[in-house]
Amino acid sequence: MRPATILHLTIIAVLITAATAQDPPTKYTNHTVGDNAGWFFNSTTNTTVANYSSWAASQTFNLGDYLIFRTSSNQTVIQTYNLTTFKNCSIDNSSDNDTIVYNGGNTVFDQALVIPVPLTIQGSNYFFSDANDGIQCLYGLAFEINVNRGLGLPPSLNQPPPPQYREPPGPDSASPPITIPAGGNDGFKNGLSVHVIAGAVLFALLAVNGGIGVEFF
Ligand SMILES: *[C@@H]1O[C@H](CO)[C@@H](O)[C@H](O)[C@H]1NC(C)=O
Ligand SMILES: *[C@@H]1O[C@H](CO)[C@@H](O)[C@H](O)[C@H]1NC(C)=O
Ligand SMILES: *[C@@H]1O[C@H](CO)[C@@H](O)[C@H](O)[C@H]1NC(C)=O
Ligand SMILES: *[C@@H]1O[C@H](CO)[C@@H](O)[C@H](O)[C@H]1NC(C)=O
Ligand SMILES: *[C@@H]1O[C@H](CO)[C@@H](O)[C@H](O)[C@H]1NC(C)=O
Ligand SMILES: *[C@@H]1O[C@H](CO)[C@@H](O)[C@H](O)[C@H]1NC(C)=O
Ligand SMILES: *[C@@H]1O[C@H](CO)[C@@H](O)[C@H](O)[C@H]1NC(C)=O
Ligand SMILES: *[C@@H]1O[C@H](CO)[C@@H](O)[C@H](O)[C@H]1NC(C)=O
Ligand SMILES: *[C@@H]1O[C@H](CO)[C@@H](O)[C@H](O)[C@H]1NC(C)=O
Repeated sequence: MRPATILHLTIIAVLITAATAQDPPTKYTNHTVGDNAGWFFNSTTNTTVANYSSWAASQTFNLGDYLIFRTSSNQTVIQTYNLTTFKNCSIDNSSDNDTIVYNGGNTVFDQALVIPVPLTIQGSNYFFSDANDGIQCLYGLAFEINVNRGLGLPPSLNQPPPPQYREPPGPDSASPPITIPAGGNDGFKNGLSVHVIAGAVLFALLAVNGGIGVEFF
């Protein structure tokens, strides 16, 4: 092989590596909280069945992913963006706009539940159970995650708040503004631009290659 070709192959390999390293995730993921152990608390021993901080640290979370809580009505699922609410293990003084109660005030116990929670806001998201007056949360039924942009929200989740807590608008009421997170397609744009740049450099290399070929003739 001519040295020039080897150089070009090396550059191409470097470019491919760079493009791979910067590629955004290609799909949305459903994360089962606590894996097989699920989301449970043993009130006899005041212990959780899994270490949820460790579990959370083992995952990468992106917009549009879901957390799947496999649990029972003995636990609750609260999602909040408010650190004060999280640290307090209580929704008593929380505001509707930063805290979502997926199941609370249960009166029938030991009902199996599967609760899917979509991740729709980037940054810190906090989860806890406020059952047993916050004791479950205090003893570890709580965790924090950081949500990355990833692919951005899919169309199905692009219009928060979640449907189950939305009041039907009256005929005369002004619609609230629909918030579409800015730059929701950044992941795609970044991925595209890397490929465009790689393509442009490859094109330039081919041109240079042609130039060398002409010199050798
Ligand atoms: C993830 O969970 C959501 C909500 O239950 C569901 O609609 C979706 O199909 C699931 N996706 C996968 C890949 O299992
Ligand atoms: C709670 O822990 C106690 C003591 O380890 C055990 O006997 C009991 O079966 C546990 N309860 C559940 C629901 O796992
Ligand atoms: C569980 O924790 C609560 C609150 O700290 C305490 O009152 C209760 O006695 C504890 N139960 C056990 C079995 O440790
Ligand atoms: C969970 O594991 C972390 C280390 O990964 C440890 O620091 C923490 O104390 C554990 N939490 C519980 C409730 O055991
Ligand atoms: C669920 O809660 C009820 C009421 O506190 C209790 O009687 C029952 O033992 C709990 N179930 C488990 C599996 O801990
Ligand atoms: C939550 O806040 C109230 C009032 O500020 C306080 O009495 C309570 O101890 C707090 N609970 C926790 C778990 O920090
Ligand atoms: C909620 O606010 C009230 C009044 O501001 C206060 O008395 C109470 O302790 C607070 N509760 C919690 C859990 O922070
Ligand atoms: C978080 O919630 C508390 C009430 O629990 C409220 O006082 C505080 O302003 C909230 N923080 C933000 C950033 O909204
Ligand atoms: C919730 O509303 C308060 C004002 O009432 C605002 O300061 C805060 O940023 C809002 N939080 C979110 C997550 O929208």
